[in-house]
Amino acid sequence: MFITFEGIDGSGKSTQAKLLYAYLREAGYDVLLTREPGGTPIGDQIRAVLLDNMANTTMHPSTELLLFCASRAQLVNEVIQPHLARGGVVLCDRYADSTLAYQGYGHGLNLKTLRQLLTFATGGLKPDVTVYLDLDPVEGLARRRKARLFNSEEWNRLDDMELAFHRRVYAGYEALIAEAPRRWLRLPAAGDIAHIQDTLRGTLAKKFKARKR
Ligand code: ADP
Ligand code: TYD
Repeated sequence: MFITFEGIDGSGKSTQAKLLYAYLREAGYDVLLTREPGGTPIGDQIRAVLLDNMANTTMHPSTELLLFCASRAQLVNEVIQPHLARGGVVLCDRYADSTLAYQGYGHGLNLKTLRQLLTFATGGLKPDVTVYLDLDPVEGLARRRKARLFNSEEWNRLDDMELAFHRRVYAGYEALIAEAPRRWLRLPAAGDIAHIQDTLRGTLAKKFKARKR
């Protein structure tokens, strides 16, 4: 089973993915947790280029897109496919939907082109389930500001830009869910961490059982 985690920045994907990983491992599943961009030695080098916004300020959106796809191609071939082929469970913190939401809906790149590129990069591998942590973009920004130790009273221009961008990303996720509602498992992300995890486990258990039948 291939399970991905999606949502805007700060929605709690890493937190929930780590908790689910620990739980499934304890329950005896052959489970692997990975993340994007990165997850392989080559992918981690690509991640460093992508996230180095101090040095790489002139990166073109098309370059950014291709680097995300390059990191993903390596991850799918080196890690995800082999583990699924062994019958294991793979949890991935972000996957192809992030490219559609961020590069497509966020930055306005052509969705049809993105889909073709994604099919090429992933060999057509799609998640069985995508956990969506549904968080209001304003709350997401507040969490990121808190994590960065910014003064939460002070609202600056960069925050406004960031908020407008994340609103487009959020709307993008809504559109992606509407296209394929059966694949997505939407969870309200504003509640207590343990409560969200309980709901996630309960809903996934039902899906696991349904697949065994
Ligand atoms: P993501 O991987 O989606 O960016 P993280 O799991 O890294 O999100 O969480 C971002 C920040 O929000 C972290 O500081 C984390 O401790 C905090 N956080 C995660 N889940 C919750 C929650 N349900 N309520 C409040 N804060 C949370
Ligand atoms: P990361 O530090 O992993 O953020 P998060 O904890 O929110 O997942 O940084 C990943 C950033 O890259 C995040 O802002 C989303 C973005 N991203 C894309 O724009 N496109 C993609 O295809 C992927 C995988 C991530």
